[in-house]
Amino acid sequence: MGRVSGFLEEVRASYDTVAEAYAERVPAPGALDPLSRGVLGAFVEEMAGAGGTVLDVGCGPGKVAGYLAAGGVRVVGLDLSARMVGIARRAQPEVPFVVGSMTALGVRAGALAGVLAYYSTHHTPPEHLPAVYAEFRRVLAPGGRLMLAGYVGADGDGGGGEGERLRHTEAYGGLPVSYESHYVPPERIVRLLEAAGLTVTARLVQEVESAKGAKRRVGTFLAVRPPAGTSPRAG
Ligand SMILES: C[S@@+](CC[C@H](N)C(=O)[O-])C[C@H]1O[C@@H](n2cnc3c(N)ncnc32)[C@H](O)[C@@H]1O
Repeated sequence: MGRVSGFLEEVRASYDTVAEAYAERVPAPGALDPLSRGVLGAFVEEMAGAGGTVLDVGCGPGKVAGYLAAGGVRVVGLDLSARMVGIARRAQPEVPFVVGSMTALGVRAGALAGVLAYYSTHHTPPEHLPAVYAEFRRVLAPGGRLMLAGYVGADGDGGGGEGERLRHTEAYGGLPVSYESHYVPPERIVRLLEAAGLTVTARLVQEVESAKGAKRRVGTFLAVRPPAGTSPRAG
């Protein structure tokens, strides 16, 4: 992949720095809380049944991609960080992994049965989310499914606000990073997905506590690219 700029360069460089530490700390999907594991398991079951390829966008060290592959899903992992991709390739030699960005996937239109973005879109500034969601829709085949999970913001403004924005300078045991996290309200995520031409079929918001006792909200959204013959709302 060529040079990237702005927030993408910050995220790429930061995840290159923390890649090994992140891979050691992040739990494998089998160790997730039962609800998260259940929803991910349902996606795996659906995608294994549907056939076709699922792209794990922002795959990090590849643990989730490995879980999909073990469940019978044909999966390809993609990440901005070449170090993450290197770790993923060593950990899951049976799964293909590529370096790339969710802002321009380099995948043929309609080529995929599924897209999974697992805790990977919260570094994308909200003003760039419409382009990312449009890219997810573009690469999905009609009837293809998206699962999006990650940190979200508070409800209450009808989805109009952009949510909280935090700049991080260290992570994963004090390693230096420089990126922002954006906690977008769930209603806004739903609105943007629908505006991109996807039909949101399920949403789940969980209040969780981090290992250090911090309260966080996580959201999971399931969506489908409308099957051929139906008229999408956009694009
Ligand atoms: C918190 S980690 C999650 C990794 C993995 N999905 C997991 O659940 O363990 C976020 C990952 O998203 C990747 N990422 C962030 N923005 C990206 C982008 N624009 N395109 C591709 N990957 C991105 C980062 O490099 C990082 O590996």
